[in-house]
Amino acid sequence: MGEMDRQIQVFLTKLSWACITVASFSLLLLFLQTPETCVPPDAPPKPHLRFPKSSCDFSPRVYVPVEKKNKRLWSSREWQKKVDSYVKFFKSIHDLGLLQKNSRSLCVSAGAGHEVMALTNMGLLDVTGVELIESPPLVSRADPHNLPFFNDSFNFAFSAHFAEALFPSRFASEMERAVEAGGICVLVVEECGDDVVKEIVGLFRNSKFIGSNNVTLFGSKWTSIVMETRNS
Ligand SMILES: *[C@@H]1O[C@H](CO)[C@@H](O)[C@H](O)[C@H]1NC(C)=O
Repeated sequence: MGEMDRQIQVFLTKLSWACITVASFSLLLLFLQTPETCVPPDAPPKPHLRFPKSSCDFSPRVYVPVEKKNKRLWSSREWQKKVDSYVKFFKSIHDLGLLQKNSRSLCVSAGAGHEVMALTNMGLLDVTGVELIESPPLVSRADPHNLPFFNDSFNFAFSAHFAEALFPSRFASEMERAVEAGGICVLVVEECGDDVVKEIVGLFRNSKFIGSNNVTLFGSKWTSIVMETRNS
């Protein structure tokens, strides 16, 4: 072996050792350093912070019963504020004589059910809430474009999520179908002008426009639209 080769050999050996040392230190550092996302083992148990240790972690998740979950949700300030806001709004509809204690009422796309709770708190006895994802006991699962109710099942229908409907005219006709002639459909949509109101009312082909109003709900501005269902 020539002198040149020997020197290269020595250099490569040195380089290897250097690499091994750096790699070992890096590993040691990684090992000793606790990632910030780790929950210390002595921390009080917080179910929402318990991640599975690996994809093979079959230890049972903490199961929170629905009643307990609801109790927590319903006692939050945000929930109460939204329900109170709806109560105030529905009282104004009640004061117009369009909503009675014995009204069979339907909330379409009711989300987690704030409006259902508001109507129930006002003393209405027959309140139904539907949404694509159910939230028992306030809201059952149903597609607003295909309501699982017979024609004329309700006197009053409400939705605060008409604007998000995939097929607005289908949403409208289903709402009308579920409400008997002379019944009331109420929408609240983001605050808008008369032209938009007219456009929306136009989709309710089986209803008579009663009026629209700018209202404040949960601290933001909305427009309420009230219609009366005609004989089909
Ligand atoms: C229900 O209402 C729809 C739309 O108004 C109508 O086409 C249908 O015939 C009605 N069904 C019954 C069973 O009356």
